[in-house]
Amino acid sequence: MRLFSLAYCSTATKPLTLSDVKKLATKASANNQLSIITGCLIYANKQFFQIIEGSQENLNLLFLKIAKDPAHDKIKILYYQQIEERLFPNWGMGLLETARTREIVKKHFEKDFQPEEFSPKQAENFTTDIKKLFFI
Ligand SMILES: Cc1cc2nc3c(=O)[nH]c(=O)nc-3n(C[C@H](O)[C@H](O)[C@H](O)COP(=O)(O)O)c2cc1C
Repeated sequence: MRLFSLAYCSTATKPLTLSDVKKLATKASANNQLSIITGCLIYANKQFFQIIEGSQENLNLLFLKIAKDPAHDKIKILYYQQIEERLFPNWGMGLLETARTREIVKKHFEKDFQPEEFSPKQAENFTTDIKKLFFI
């Protein structure tokens, strides 16, 4: 099976608490395990950044579903590419809390977390740094 990775960002239509985002990630994780999708989600500054990995068919279906969700808008795909192996093999949907991403966000952004400004390459570099957090 060919593996793909899709990264997108979006803006929450209303501010969410950590508990809201945790609920969202828990549900997402349970759903994703059924279609062998893995990934990670970051929420900060009212912005989502999400990576989903899996077969192209399953990613397309999931992304279409996510894109229709009224919880967010201004959805922008940052990259969608074939990969050799999963970056987040053990995570149906790993949630990274702001406290854990602060240092990496500082490195990649001049001010606030603004992933919509990323080029595909910048999004990929950010993802590589984020992956390291899962193994600390
Ligand atoms: C930023 C964001 C990320 C989401 N990520 C996922 C995801 O990875 N997997 C998933 O099943 N649902 C995800 N959702 C939720 C879906 O949009 C949708 O509400 C949910 O899948 C519906 O689940 P159900 O069909 O089991 O009721 C996400 C929603 C938002 C706002």
